[in-house]
Amino acid sequence: MDKSFPLSGWGSLAIHAGHKQDPNYAHLVPIYANSTFVFDDAEQGMRRFSGKEEGYIYSRWGNPTFSEAEEKIAALETFGLDIEAKGILHASGMAAISTLMLATLQPGDKIITHFSLYGGTEELVSKILPNFGITPIIADLRDLDKAEAILKNDPAIRMMYLETPANPTIQCVDLDELSKLARQYNLVVACDNTFATPYLQQPFQYGVDYIVHSTTKFLNGHGTAIGGILLGKDVEQMKTKITKIHRTLGGNSNAFDAFLLIQGIKTLEVRMERHCHNALEVANFLESHAAVSKVNYTGLASHPDHYTAMKQMRHPGAMLSFELKSGLQGGIDFMNKLKMCVRTVSLGTCDSLLSHPASMTHYSVPKEEKEKYGITDGLIRMNVGIENLQDILADLEQALS
Ligand SMILES: Cc1ncc(COP(=O)(O)O)c(C=O)c1O
Repeated sequence: MDKSFPLSGWGSLAIHAGHKQDPNYAHLVPIYANSTFVFDDAEQGMRRFSGKEEGYIYSRWGNPTFSEAEEKIAALETFGLDIEAKGILHASGMAAISTLMLATLQPGDKIITHFSLYGGTEELVSKILPNFGITPIIADLRDLDKAEAILKNDPAIRMMYLETPANPTIQCVDLDELSKLARQYNLVVACDNTFATPYLQQPFQYGVDYIVHSTTKFLNGHGTAIGGILLGKDVEQMKTKITKIHRTLGGNSNAFDAFLLIQGIKTLEVRMERHCHNALEVANFLESHAAVSKVNYTGLASHPDHYTAMKQMRHPGAMLSFELKSGLQGGIDFMNKLKMCVRTVSLGTCDSLLSHPASMTHYSVPKEEKEKYGITDGLIRMNVGIENLQDILADLEQALS
């Protein structure tokens, strides 16, 4: 990208940011399928290892294809803000989250987070971190007074970990208010921005210190690769402490997946506009359907987090869930009748994806446990895709009838 011509459009940046002219004039960044990089002479090797000269050494440590993705996502997360950030690409969202936690927390520290979290993150926080002497505190962080009461009484809390909108409930927490509160008590704040993407929400704007993404989802956009990224706005710390832990843990990406991610991000703005337009229409359709008892979509005024979502997001996103009046068997029948929409558990792809937690992801979870998280027998989760709206509505209508 030509730095003498700053881009003012989000979509232009998504296409061009991070790109460098290839020495062989290839149009797109090559897939650098190399484990290692060579030195002109031993002195150059010395300069690279000592950090006196920038350059690639070994792909676990960095790779030119990763760099384009890292710089692109960092540019998008800081677009329009007077903030610099550095991203480190990882093999998966979970790898990025693991690096974050192992690099910033120590035995004796506590981490505060909320009820609704992606299952893998919940497992890491509740079952794995305690093995390293790090204690989780799970609270409803939508209640700011309650959050403050907990922070006030516990100086061991070092990190506030947020996910908004959260998987699978689509609950939202207030990034601005919680970051202010966290600063008062010297906490590090991290936010999983997977569901929103930097097009809909920029957590750095509200004082968040670290952002993580499962790039597997909307950033890649086509379901072609697993990936993750950890971004931090303390660039020096990202280049030193966090890089060291990342390199040692070995959760690096690979050049092919990074290439797919780069191509996916280029269309993020147009995809998200269409995803969100379709999602609102689908939510309205479902809300007035006789077979549906409840629709959870933050774009609807009926959603308890509608105000929070609208305060910090450009649009309310592409994820929604709804409850069928017909319960467990109704959910199974509905899923079996889908013709175009796809029965699967992931999200962020062009096609509409639906899952039925009670018969799939949460099949073996006890009923009381499921109900605590709002997962009822008839609950259906939907990633509203970017197909033509009339086809999505027609498929839902025939499956609901
Ligand atoms: C919000 C969120 N964060 C993190 C992850 C983990 O990402 P990955 O599967 O790429 O490791 C997921 C996966 O679904 C997710 O939905």
